[in-house]
Amino acid sequence: MKLLVTGGLGFIGSNFIRYWLSRHPSDVVVNLDKVTYAANPENLADIKNNYTFVQGDILDVELLDKILPRTDLIVHFAAESHVDRSIDDPLLFVKTNVLGTYTLLSAAKKYGNIRFHHISTDEVFGSIPLDSTAQFSESTPYDPSSPYSASKASSDHFVRAFGKTFGLPITITNCSNNYGPFQHPEKLIPRMITNLIDGQKIPVYGAGQNFRDWLYVNDHCSAIEAVIQKGKLGETYCVGGLKETSRNIDLVKKVIKLMGKSDDQIEFVADRPAHDNYAVSWDKILTELGWEPQETLESGLQKTVDWYLTHESWWRSAKTEAEAFYKKLNDYKNLKK
Ligand code: NAD
Ligand code: DAU
Repeated sequence: MKLLVTGGLGFIGSNFIRYWLSRHPSDVVVNLDKVTYAANPENLADIKNNYTFVQGDILDVELLDKILPRTDLIVHFAAESHVDRSIDDPLLFVKTNVLGTYTLLSAAKKYGNIRFHHISTDEVFGSIPLDSTAQFSESTPYDPSSPYSASKASSDHFVRAFGKTFGLPITITNCSNNYGPFQHPEKLIPRMITNLIDGQKIPVYGAGQNFRDWLYVNDHCSAIEAVIQKGKLGETYCVGGLKETSRNIDLVKKVIKLMGKSDDQIEFVADRPAHDNYAVSWDKILTELGWEPQETLESGLQKTVDWYLTHESWWRSAKTEAEAFYKKLNDYKNLKK
């Protein structure tokens, strides 16, 4: 089978390509990635067989015309993925996540309705109240809070519309927060680990009471594989990693303990606007496709901490860029006070 993976130099896309080729060594993967700040060519530097990298934009119709005639399956990861950056520059999220997905869908339709799997997020469902134990499921109405989640919600609607209107063979996964190796240090878990390595404080937004459902990235890859192989066309599957969510403050303390540091490293800072809480029911993918996560939060965090401790050359320059971004965002917030 010939796959086009978009955004395959980012965090989840690169883990997915590595996962897929290790389990399907006779398949051929083309990785189309624009190489934004979030990409790192080192992620797949050791992958040589049945793999081609093309630097380019999912909005480039002429480039898609060259790649798609030889494609059986599109796995679409490419996106602007960071909520805090969507507060800074929402239009970029509309361009990449909405127009980019639309452009890819149109090309998939043009070349004989290519099978299309879309990677989406639990953020499209909005927020669960702080004192509630409710969970999102496939039937939860969309209610996005940030420009990022609004752009992902819009992309999901276009994917379903192409399925219904044009018969494009689509599936969607809406997953919770991923973590693991190769995640950009702008995101909470790698930011915490690398701050602790650098002897810096960990900035916890608000009172740290917001909660998430953490999913180890390899478990996400196996969920995508299950949906590609056994999922019903036109369907959506929610993917989560935990049975009970974790409040940010508890997660931060777990990482501090794993790294042998003190809770004095915690610094409470101004909250993110429209700060959501997420919890995902993964009953449907378990019942229908037999998928469940293999990693516990403890085992996944240990692997992640170990990876960042031994890969400083991978994360150092990305961290410098990320912290410059946060400084700019904070200066802007202070100006508005
Ligand atoms: P990431 O930011 O690490 O990587 C995104 C990749 O897309 C980068 O390599 C970037 O260069 C590429 N890209 C961006 N714009 C592009 C364009 N116009 N054309 C081609 N390539 C482009 O993202 P991630 O965390 O790996 O997330 C991947 C996907 O999974 C996204 O669609 C995201 O919305 C979704 N998702 C992520 C999480 C998470 O916790 N990280 C959870 C749920 C869903
Ligand atoms: O739920 C899925 C989503 O998870 C994905 O769709 C997004 O692409 C991905 O970035 C992630 O979004 P979050 O906003 O949940 O991730 P982030 O790592 O930015 O933040 C996780 C939580 O930690 C959130 O409650 C905000 C908080 N936080 C984050 C940072 C970076 C802090 O308290 N301090 C921080 O420095």
